[in-house]
Amino acid sequence: MATADRAESVPHHGTVSRDVFTTRLGVITATLGSAVGLGNIWKFPYLAGANGGAAFIIVYLLCTLVVGLPVMITEHVIGRTARGDAIASLKKLAPGKSWWLIGASGILASFLIMAFYTEVAAWVFAYIVKAIQGAVLSTDPAVTEAAFAELVTSPVQSLVWQWIVLAFIAFIIALGVSKGIERMTKRLMPALFAILIIVVIRSVTLPGAAQGLEFLLKPDFSKVTGATVLTALGLSFFKLSVGMGTMITYGSYFLDDQDIPATATRVMLSDVLVSALAGLAVFPAVFAFGFQPESGPSLLFITIPAVFSSMPFGQIFMILFFVLTAIAATGAMLSLFEVPVAYLAGTLNWDRKKATVAVLIGLAVVGSTAALSNSLLADVVFPGIGTFFDLWDYLTSNILLPVGGLFLCLFAGWVLKWDKLKTWLTNNGNLDNQGIIRAFYLVVKYVTPPLVLIILLSGLNLF
Ligand code: TRP
Repeated sequence: MATADRAESVPHHGTVSRDVFTTRLGVITATLGSAVGLGNIWKFPYLAGANGGAAFIIVYLLCTLVVGLPVMITEHVIGRTARGDAIASLKKLAPGKSWWLIGASGILASFLIMAFYTEVAAWVFAYIVKAIQGAVLSTDPAVTEAAFAELVTSPVQSLVWQWIVLAFIAFIIALGVSKGIERMTKRLMPALFAILIIVVIRSVTLPGAAQGLEFLLKPDFSKVTGATVLTALGLSFFKLSVGMGTMITYGSYFLDDQDIPATATRVMLSDVLVSALAGLAVFPAVFAFGFQPESGPSLLFITIPAVFSSMPFGQIFMILFFVLTAIAATGAMLSLFEVPVAYLAGTLNWDRKKATVAVLIGLAVVGSTAALSNSLLADVVFPGIGTFFDLWDYLTSNILLPVGGLFLCLFAGWVLKWDKLKTWLTNNGNLDNQGIIRAFYLVVKYVTPPLVLIILLSGLNLF
């Protein structure tokens, strides 16, 4: 086995060494599979649409570069060096200190994200069936809106589709890191790019597409407020799957000779590319058919089907689009599911299958609060935020991830410090990337922490 000679590997229950990614390509596809998800295809377009388009996108890109990318590099290097789950890695690098709490908050965050994420994925899976049946084939948004409402207000449909999604993800997770996650994402990621490009070509060649392009490219900064900037920052964390130890867990499966800064940069650029393509797939079509971009979380489920129904061969494109979204969501959910499983199997030494089942049950319980947010629990409303569904989204993206990211940067810059980071990020001097690492170090130490703090405080109206 390719993993047997990993000298540093931590003994793993039942096997000689840890199950890790086996090739460099596998590392990239799995990591990219985590980053690319509903964040690109559902969240990014609806947030950009609701927050004025280009100006929001620029703020989001800046946050990705100055905050998201450095946090991703930090997480990868922590994981690869310590070779443990989110909690174990931090305990190993800072014995006797409280830094492991970041990992603990990350495990909590992964449950809360999965709670609403699996519900959006549930709608996507249900829409593949609806698109095939032609049930959402109408150019009248009132009809597609009714179809969406019928799905989300039915407690049975919402729960059953969520359980189908959860069972599917649990099945792949139970297969393991290399046989499950790596093999799945290697097959799915190329398919995702191919389908997305087909849909983009259709969208940008529609008559009237130009207005959508303008919306994506022409900034109007008058729409940017403190809350908008916090939303953009939260999106940049959510998009790159950082701020809670997912990337520590994935970093622990990296190869010893993996070039971490280069890998993280490639993943970040590809992720931005997928978001840009998703924007190009959605907005030109939305404007071409005279729809509004501001419809919020339901953009993908009400506006998009109406848009597809208005174009030639629309049903085929609609099916392709929702299959593509389901693929993207799968890679991301695998990484979210893996975080608590890695902890139970690694630190607590549980059997991987038993850990998977335990997490599955936990997720079904927490997830039901999001699944029932439009039906049985619709009356439970948190002031200024919304239902349980909105609460989990807000708490994770706007608070837990930025706070986790802030502490991870402080840990890298002020605890690990230059000497260690230099050794680990150059692979003991084997890589010629000192300039880049120096820049990373200065940003992570002096720029990212105060920036995140200011955005957090102003976004939450605390000053
Ligand atoms: N990045 C994924 C997306 O854009 C979501 C995701 C997966 C995530 N793992 C995560 C977000 C960990 C935050 C933390 O859809």
